[in-house]
Amino acid sequence: MFQTVAVLDFGSQYTGLIVRRLRELRVHSMLFAGTVDVETLRREKNLTAVVLSGSPHSAYDKGAPKCDPGVFKLGVPVLGICYGAQLMALSLGGEVGPSGVREYGRAVARVMGDSALTNGLPKKFDVWMSHGDRVTELPEGCFDILVTEDCPHAGFCAPEKKFYGLQFHPEVQHTPLGGEILENFLYHVCGCKGDWVMSGFAETAIKAVREQVGGAKAVLGISGGVDSTVTAVMLSEALGENLTCIFVDTGLLRKDEFKRVMSRYGNRFNIIGIQAGEKFLTELKGVTDPEKKRKTIGRVFVEVFQEEAKKLEGVEFLGQGTLYPDVIESSGAYGSGEAAVIKSHHNVGGLPEKMGLKLIEPLRDLFKDEVRELGVTLGIPEDELRRHPFPGPGLAVRIVGEVTPERVAVLQAVDAIVLEEIHSAGWYRKLWQAFAVLLPQASVGVMGDQRTYESVAALRLVESQDGMTADWAEIPYGIIRRISRRITNEVKGVNRVVYDVSSKPPATIEWE
Ligand code: XMP
Repeated sequence: MFQTVAVLDFGSQYTGLIVRRLRELRVHSMLFAGTVDVETLRREKNLTAVVLSGSPHSAYDKGAPKCDPGVFKLGVPVLGICYGAQLMALSLGGEVGPSGVREYGRAVARVMGDSALTNGLPKKFDVWMSHGDRVTELPEGCFDILVTEDCPHAGFCAPEKKFYGLQFHPEVQHTPLGGEILENFLYHVCGCKGDWVMSGFAETAIKAVREQVGGAKAVLGISGGVDSTVTAVMLSEALGENLTCIFVDTGLLRKDEFKRVMSRYGNRFNIIGIQAGEKFLTELKGVTDPEKKRKTIGRVFVEVFQEEAKKLEGVEFLGQGTLYPDVIESSGAYGSGEAAVIKSHHNVGGLPEKMGLKLIEPLRDLFKDEVRELGVTLGIPEDELRRHPFPGPGLAVRIVGEVTPERVAVLQAVDAIVLEEIHSAGWYRKLWQAFAVLLPQASVGVMGDQRTYESVAALRLVESQDGMTADWAEIPYGIIRRISRRITNEVKGVNRVVYDVSSKPPATIEWE
């Protein structure tokens, strides 16, 4: 098992980043609620350290989240960051109070004496502060390792116990040497081995699936996307012939996508392709509300999948390409865990319960970029791993208003042009997604000497790290011009193209 660092989340906007940074330093880390009881942590195999995150709360506020005091008796190193450092100071007998000046933004930290955490760092460096309170008195046995002009205890430690507190945020880019500080914590304080590498992960996870499933059979829904392809390869390595994959053509895929994906998979994974486009389009007749569209597609998908899976004998397990961000969001370990439902996502929600199947989720510990890295170690071609995300409800959420077979065909043609041009301009890999949306709006145009009255297509080209936030791409006008000209010349039914210049937030990437 991998060495694991538990990150206790007290609600800071940067908590997810801490997990990312530690993993980038090749150490497996996982989020827990800040108030998790120490027995849960004790059960964690190979727990190597605990990190206490920042928080929007004041440590001495009534009702402020506190960590179990047992955390400091686990016998593993503890790193407190911002609020986490204040909790640490309070728990060990120090004091915390409001800062005279609320310190926000860049500050210069000065190194005091020697410590494992500041090992190899220059005597002065920039750090990123964001706090209203601070440690006013150090606990007994602690001493300062970093100071800033406004913060006398910007960094402190109790080296024998391996407790370290930092008032600033080492996990953000604005602390340029933050990576080195975290690396020092992991390798010089905790003695980590750096065993979180994807080749090791693949081997361990495949073995775990084999043990979980034994000689039973499993079924997996695949879409041609990165997550389901990587899941299919993992499960296929683990289960061989006992795995069957089902690919449902919703009729809402990109042009020729079903054929292309089926031929790419060939005869691997015992794949079964089901063309259910007609059923989906019939059920979508007259549906214009975005949520109703998503729910309808989700329901029909479950029906189609279930019908097919029932024909397979002796299936006990259902594979899913769930990723760590989905787990975090639904477990409530991250922040309040009560994020409003913005859009109901169509994955195979509800399937395992309905079919009485047990779940296998070999990617549930990974972030998207780790899945790509894992894909490389599994020998999946880079081009497949770099494919843009495509929503489960497909083109239906890119056709504003009613989804009809004619409008699907128009959007497929438009979409194919967008992708061709983006590829040939060398922009595909720079973008998170590139697509078009068909609007329910017609506008007047002129073609030859004829008046036209046809649909508007909106181009959506966005850059993003993880889809949670995004910005429209400042792509050269020449490329937009070519795309626009080709769409209006080649696709009957569209006479106007507009460019969507909205970021997320406040807009979302998809229009519905
Ligand atoms: P939004 O539109 O919410 O999308 O900004 C964020 C990312 O998620 C993709 N997306 C989906 N993916 N099932 C999926 O698997 C869905 O129902 C779904 N809806 C949106 C979207 O393409 C973008 O990358």
